Amino acid sequence: MTAKPLTLQIPFHRADVGEDEVKAVSDVIRSGWLTMGARTFEFERQFARYVGASHAIAVSSCTAALHLALEAVGVSRGDEVLVPTTTFTATAEVVTYLGARPVLVDIDALTLNLDPADMERKITPRTKAVIPVHMAGMPCDMKEILEISGRHKVRVIEDAAHALPASYQGKKIGSISELTAFSFYATKTLTTGEGGMITTESEDHARRLQVMRLHGIARDAWKRYSAEGSWFYEVLESGFKYNLTDMQSALGLVQLARCDEMNLVREEISRRYTAAFKPLEAVEVPPSLSDRSTSWHLYVLRLNLDRLRIDRNKFIQELAARGVSTSVHFIPLHLQPVYQRDYQYKPGDLPVAEREYHRSISLPIYSGMRDDEIEYVIWAVADVVSTWSR
Ligand SMILES: Cc1ncc(COP(=O)(O)O)c(C=O)c1O
Repeated sequence: MTAKPLTLQIPFHRADVGEDEVKAVSDVIRSGWLTMGARTFEFERQFARYVGASHAIAVSSCTAALHLALEAVGVSRGDEVLVPTTTFTATAEVVTYLGARPVLVDIDALTLNLDPADMERKITPRTKAVIPVHMAGMPCDMKEILEISGRHKVRVIEDAAHALPASYQGKKIGSISELTAFSFYATKTLTTGEGGMITTESEDHARRLQVMRLHGIARDAWKRYSAEGSWFYEVLESGFKYNLTDMQSALGLVQLARCDEMNLVREEISRRYTAAFKPLEAVEVPPSLSDRSTSWHLYVLRLNLDRLRIDRNKFIQELAARGVSTSVHFIPLHLQPVYQRDYQYKPGDLPVAEREYHRSISLPIYSGMRDDEIEYVIWAVADVVSTWSR
């Protein structure tokens, strides 16, 4: 054990935004055009090019993106939509917006992603869609998921809230299935404070999404307050208020230009964590799979509880006592009161997710982390392990 370093306070996350972002947002504010406009359309163009998609539609959050994507494929009352139980509530909540039922699927213990075999078991004649979530940025088994969904005529909408940039079998996430939803929430790998993007190959979907994100009003109505616009507009559908602003998009454009560089830093942190933790018998490091790359949005360390005299919650307290803030991703949805009340889920229903939940800890990993902070986290984890190992 190395000597105890000077105590540091390590936050779980710190947004990596600098003067370039400040200037880009200030320029928009000074321009007098604050909401969706030229910066947003430029952000869409560059984002589509970056992930290799034909179309990208900017929206106010990933929750909005998932909602609009489900609407675009026609999910409606009485339908079922498959969702992994290990995800944030947004993935399942959007299903209920459309009067459909979220059906929870267990996860694969290696990747923490939706288990394709359990997905197939849960398909019924009412199953309309599946939402694979790329947990922590690790791509799902898309080949198997697309094969099963193709056979059963189930639509695929990827929840890529964590997965920018990530790739699967040589293709970037965002260019693989019918619709993919991204998040630019404050803690994500690219942030606009709040925000989201939908990518798609389908021209029809793109047109529908552009209309539905802004009240169902015909495209280009945003121009109606500009010199080139006119006062006339038509409302084609009953839509939503889900557009992104130019202030957010200006921030997003700077972040997008830095996306690869920020990813390299997270990759390097993950390499150092893995090299340090792999020899410890009380913990298990995230997998590395040769056919896919992760965004390293999260670094989920798993505890071998039989090697420790403390549980996961106490492990978190011990790290906090040493100044390291952590989190847990995620409390499985079938353990949450609302899904138990509305769909009669109960503890034990999705056993793999539950077992992994009880031994998971997300460590700090972000592109603004300093060298001494990375070393400190490594020291703190090793110190807790050596103090509490059996
Ligand atoms: C897996 C997953 N999906 C969806 C969301 C929702 O993203 P947003 O906050 O942009 O609506 C989150 C947010 O953390 C998430 O973790």
